[in-house]
Amino acid sequence: MGIMQHKVGFIGFGGMAKHHFEILSGYDRVTVKGIYDIDPQVMENAKNDGIYTYPSKKALLADEELDMVLVATTNEVHKDLAIEAMAAGKNVICEKPVTISSEELLEIIEASEKYGKVFTIDQNRRTNKDFVLMKRKVEEGLLGKPYVIESRVEGSRGMPKGWRTLKHLGGGMMLDWGVHLIDQIMYMVDEKVTNVFCKMYHIQYAEVDDNFRLTMTFESGLTAHIEVSTNNYITHPRWYVLGEDGTLQIDDWDCDGKIVRCIDKENEWEEKIFYTKAGPTKTMAPRSKESIETMIISEPLDVVDDLTVVYNQFADAIEGIAPLTITPQQALRVMRVMEASFESAQTGMAIATDI
Ligand SMILES: NC(=O)c1ccc[n+]([C@@H]2O[C@H](COP(=O)([O-])OP(=O)(O)OC[C@H]3O[C@@H](n4cnc5c(N)ncnc54)[C@H](O)[C@@H]3O)[C@@H](O)[C@H]2O)c1
Repeated sequence: MGIMQHKVGFIGFGGMAKHHFEILSGYDRVTVKGIYDIDPQVMENAKNDGIYTYPSKKALLADEELDMVLVATTNEVHKDLAIEAMAAGKNVICEKPVTISSEELLEIIEASEKYGKVFTIDQNRRTNKDFVLMKRKVEEGLLGKPYVIESRVEGSRGMPKGWRTLKHLGGGMMLDWGVHLIDQIMYMVDEKVTNVFCKMYHIQYAEVDDNFRLTMTFESGLTAHIEVSTNNYITHPRWYVLGEDGTLQIDDWDCDGKIVRCIDKENEWEEKIFYTKAGPTKTMAPRSKESIETMIISEPLDVVDDLTVVYNQFADAIEGIAPLTITPQQALRVMRVMEASFESAQTGMAIATDI
């Protein structure tokens, strides 16, 4: 059997779709046949760049050569477009956040079953190297049992203008970045989420969250603390993980980091009090250097982190080679955590969940 070639049509051709286009231009398994965007100027520019533009969405969906459609529009129309495309017989890859509510996603899931089409989501940050490095080190057991995972992305330039600042178009940092960071943690931790507490901030935009702090608790008691900020002039590390036997820190997307772990658990307290500039302390006295080891950790060079990974998984599922990797059911759980976060932020209460 020869290698199956897939042809994809893009609905929406903004910044992210252009990135898909670029990546797929160097990838044999999936070819972009053409695009459609509701904005005539975008269509004009694409045409000038030599990209095939369908005269209408209908024409794109009627093209029998296409077996894949990418939905890369603003978020409020993902649902309708995804369902329309599946009804037209296409398998669909949809940009994140998959929809702006879990009800909408349930409609997509129903359509995917009804039309027998594969539906996946570009929750593509599972292959980010900083995440993979953290996950591997924790799973190798280097820290002992983890009990807190802190994940942060922080900028200081505010949010990009446009739809990201508007609620009805699915704006705000929870739906934009939160979706990725929650997905990473839920992909790593195979447990139910039992509690969600979230504080949202509106530094520049009253309408949507431009910063948030979320604490989610898993069944075992493991907590994940997630922060997305657009107003931090001094940043925290990208990852900070506490295990019972050690601590991991990864500074940034370049993956510079370290693990400091305990190699001598004996806890002989000296009789004398330790003096700091803030006064005397026994509990916070530093450990002896001999009782810990420091391991430098760095970028995992074997990890491929680009959109071809997601398209490969999508194609594998269409061809029946492997089950889908990024499933609508996983996206639904992430969506429900985000919805509990909004409820928590609005009420000021922690929300008990069964997600
Ligand atoms: N996975 C990632 O890492 C990542 C990164 C950035 C953006 N995204 C997602 O990609 C999507 C697009 O974001 P963007 O940054 O490219 O936005 P953008 O504003 O640059 O582009 C959106 C495009 O969609 C078009 N559009 C809107 N409604 C349409 C419709 N009904 N039919 C056809 N075209 C329509 C607009 O004209 C515009 O050209 C969003 O869902 C966003 O969350 C994902």
